[in-house]
Amino acid sequence: MHEFITVKTTEEMGRIGADIFALEIKKKPDLVLGLATGSSPISLYRELVRMHKEDRLDFSRVRTVNLDEYVGLPANHPQSYRAFMNEYLFDHVNIELANTHLPNGMAEDLSEEWKRYDGLVNSLGGIDVQLLGIGPNGHIGFNEPSDQFSKHTQVVPLTQETIDANARFFSDEAEVPREAITLDVRHIMQAKKIVLVATRNKESILRKALQGPITSQIPASVLQLHQDLTVIFSEGE
Ligand code: GLP
Repeated sequence: MHEFITVKTTEEMGRIGADIFALEIKKKPDLVLGLATGSSPISLYRELVRMHKEDRLDFSRVRTVNLDEYVGLPANHPQSYRAFMNEYLFDHVNIELANTHLPNGMAEDLSEEWKRYDGLVNSLGGIDVQLLGIGPNGHIGFNEPSDQFSKHTQVVPLTQETIDANARFFSDEAEVPREAITLDVRHIMQAKKIVLVATRNKESILRKALQGPITSQIPASVLQLHQDLTVIFSEGE
């Protein structure tokens, strides 16, 4: 099933996305959520927090795995993805922090670390619902355009386009990490359900990814092959 939902505002995008997540959490309280960072998922996280506070949406048994983390940023760096997740979701719901997982971008041995993370996702039984944004070059997680779709978690150099796009979160472009650890396309595609959120600035890459040829040069194009994909597109930013 593929569903493409267009809404006027990011708040609406967040509400619709959070409704999907809440339904799945109620169906399977110990499910594994695949989570994403970036601006696009923020309204969805806000709505999940509201649902927890006002409607008692229960996260006590939920497990989470994030898509990616920058190499070289400690967890307490404000731009680390761990800090992002704590700020926008984990600090505000009743989730056990021990059940929330991200790659460790400070690991001394990065190749040990991607293997650990890859194995961890497998040991959790894979992902039930995967949240995705999309990069301006069509990346998902930090799976950048390349010659083939990635098959395991890996350490990747970031493209200049991605560094530029993410520089807005840092005081200086030079501070943007040049590498990241990312969950691979195969694990993303194995998620039982995928929800992709995107705003107006992604319209053209989204069209290419969903309507153009499937190519690892536009990693998100592989989503055309997923059996349960919902895309929520906000005409506002
Ligand atoms: C980063 C993340 C991606 C995210 C992308 C788009 O590069 N690694 O997972 O989808 O940014 O982010 P935004 O929603 O801020 O445009």
